[in-house]
Amino acid sequence: MTRPATLTFRKTDTDALAELTGHVVVFLGEDGALGSGAQAVDSAAGGAVARFAASKSGTKMKTGAAQTIAWPGGMKADSVIAVKLPADASAEDARRAGTAAMRAAGDGPLTILAEDRPDAELIALGALLRDYDYTDQKTPGSDGHPGPRDVVVMADRPEGLDAAAVQAVAEGVFFTRDLVNAPANVLTTTEFADRLSALGDLGLEVEVLDEDKLGALGMGALLAVGQGSDSPSKVVVMRWNGGGDEAPLALVGKGVVFDTGGISLKPGAGMEDMTMDMGGAGVVSGVMKTLALRKARANVVGLVGLVENMPGPNATRPGDVVKSMKGDTIEVINTDAEGRLVLADVMWYAQDRFKPAAMIDLATLTGAMIVALGHDTAGFFSNDDALSEALSAAAKSEDEAAWRLPLGKPYADLLKSRIADVKNVGGRPAGAITAAEFLQRFVTEGTAWCHIDIAGVALTKSDSPYAPKGASGWGVRALDRLVRDRYEG
Ligand code: BES
Ligand code: MN
Ligand code: ZN
Repeated sequence: MTRPATLTFRKTDTDALAELTGHVVVFLGEDGALGSGAQAVDSAAGGAVARFAASKSGTKMKTGAAQTIAWPGGMKADSVIAVKLPADASAEDARRAGTAAMRAAGDGPLTILAEDRPDAELIALGALLRDYDYTDQKTPGSDGHPGPRDVVVMADRPEGLDAAAVQAVAEGVFFTRDLVNAPANVLTTTEFADRLSALGDLGLEVEVLDEDKLGALGMGALLAVGQGSDSPSKVVVMRWNGGGDEAPLALVGKGVVFDTGGISLKPGAGMEDMTMDMGGAGVVSGVMKTLALRKARANVVGLVGLVENMPGPNATRPGDVVKSMKGDTIEVINTDAEGRLVLADVMWYAQDRFKPAAMIDLATLTGAMIVALGHDTAGFFSNDDALSEALSAAAKSEDEAAWRLPLGKPYADLLKSRIADVKNVGGRPAGAITAAEFLQRFVTEGTAWCHIDIAGVALTKSDSPYAPKGASGWGVRALDRLVRDRYEG
């Protein structure tokens, strides 16, 4: 498990600056102006900060850029990191300044002089989010696995700053990233369920439904996906009851721990990336962890469908017809369109049991979504404009890009089956939309619903502002923000 840095907000102590180890971060304002903290560091460093600020590269610096001043004379620290950040910076710039400082820092503790900045928590969050490395599969070096780094934010008024709330978000994001980065022989359906059961320690009510129970519930679509694998299919239900007696928000995640395509086998090249096909379930799990850690005043239920899509003598065949919990029969044209079969049953169960006020599902559902929006923006679909706008606003304020795409009857019509109620693929055109239309069949009349296709954003091939390459944790912050803004207080 990757632990975020230990974050502390502390009153600014200028006398201590010369003795700090690791890296000391100061901010340069408009015109390279030094605030009180930067001035104090400048004195400790014999004027190095002011000299840099007045230099050509200092004056040309763009917002969010970071410059390392290495081995500053007069200080014990390895470096002073100067980050350009105007006093009235946006939330996005503040968070990204934190990530830039962390990227510039080597090992060791980080001390950030936030002075009287109102965005100290955002800067700290950015720094924590960028301080991630998936090392679970590496043999520990001679130094072993070092413990979490210390991040100290020195502020003029630390009393109003909430380190636990910032850390709760980073813990949830890291939980998601660890799940998504984990190889499929490690993160089996059973191991996934065990990691979720352990969240019970945080006050979540966690239930694991096994194959017998899923069969008794009639989840023939979900079970059809997992029946080619030796790993048992499971549905895990996580409940956080921090609100009153109002109906919960339901979050539903696709948790395909590995997607070979099944009998409709995928090509070999790049198949290893399908370890991330549980990304939707990973995000739901991370959000639930954050909500529990920060004791959210809302009712939220998270459900994940955990299966492995494998070929084998017992696997579902193209042409098979399976029966969903709703009762609709589904002709499986392509066993690689498996995520929608999993979600159909888990979404139906979520509505049947919890009568949620709204339901949001997340899934690495289609390659077509990557073709449409690439790796920077998630696509989403909704039957409810208010929920859709709230989700857009939450994603935007957390700097997680999301774009709404349309639904419509012509797309649903592409799913007509000759022999069953519906088929599981609608052809190549608009593949992300026909997948969403398939899901909409399993949304009950009157339930506000959003489907977020995170196929492109769950895993990145290059570094992104908030994460090194690999699992991004996209969506944990947006959904946590949505809960804060729409379902709390
Ligand atoms: N898990 C894949 C979608 C995917 C592809 C996610 C690449 C992340 C990266 C999904 O189960 C799938 O295979 N979808 C098919 C659907 C098709 C058979 C209708 C696809 O997109 O090709
Ligand atoms: Mn597939
Ligand atoms: Zn899949």
